[in-house]
Amino acid sequence: MSDQPRPRASLRTAVVWEVLKDALDRQAETVGRDALDVLDTGGGTGNFAVPAARLGHRVTVVDPSPNALFALERRAAEAGVADRVRGVQGDILGLFDVVDRDGFDAVLCHGVLEYVDEPAAGVRNAVAALRPSGALSLLAAGLGGAVLSRALAGHFTEARQALTDPAGRWGEGDPVPRRFTAEQLSGLVSGAGLEIAAVHGVRVFADLVPGALVDTEPGALEALLKLEAAVAEQSAFHSVAAQLHVLGEKRR
Ligand SMILES: C[S@@+](CC[C@H](N)C(=O)[O-])C[C@H]1O[C@@H](n2cnc3c(N)ncnc32)[C@H](O)[C@@H]1O
Repeated sequence: MSDQPRPRASLRTAVVWEVLKDALDRQAETVGRDALDVLDTGGGTGNFAVPAARLGHRVTVVDPSPNALFALERRAAEAGVADRVRGVQGDILGLFDVVDRDGFDAVLCHGVLEYVDEPAAGVRNAVAALRPSGALSLLAAGLGGAVLSRALAGHFTEARQALTDPAGRWGEGDPVPRRFTAEQLSGLVSGAGLEIAAVHGVRVFADLVPGALVDTEPGALEALLKLEAAVAEQSAFHSVAAQLHVLGEKRR
């Protein structure tokens, strides 16, 4: 990671981006092409799609939201990668209405499974979009992180509710329809036929630390980013991470 000052938003994406960037580099080596075909299912406004395109990859974003796709188009143009980013309106459960099976070297599915009625079917579609030796990057909300953050905010009943609710929701007002444990997410990926290459805990501390501390203490943001990177691979911290990232690989 760079030692330059970084914006606070990087706390949300840094760990996943580093893992994803390495995975894309490995894929490029494996397939012997610099420019990969990448599918970002539920790619939204392009938080990952645009940086991936800036690496030289061709990225197709499938998302049901016309507003998100509009913002994606503008963002890609501003980044100078409009020719490498294609937005398509569609749903992960109807993926092959809009893209080809076996058509991509890498598939991203970040922050989407929480909102999908049939997560296992969503993951199976994401995997079916991969070419042989393709890689899946799956990111979803973690159950334990929600329990911890509700408890630390003093919402003890909600924390217990999330712990026992089958979907990991803390109550009626919970905006997230579904959360996962690392075992559940890994099970979805291996159940769809991929090998698990890595599991990372994401935003273990970032959402719990007072914002003022990170914004005002010199060097605090950089130090927190380094701490997040260090704990991400430690399985002991997976059970309290706000998000979980699973990297799956299709073996020939
Ligand atoms: C939390 S945002 C994540 C956006 C982006 N992947 C990221 O990591 O920044 C969730 C996105 O999933 C999209 N989405 C919701 N339901 C979906 C579905 N069934 N199929 C595909 N995308 C969906 C939403 O429109 C939204 O853009």
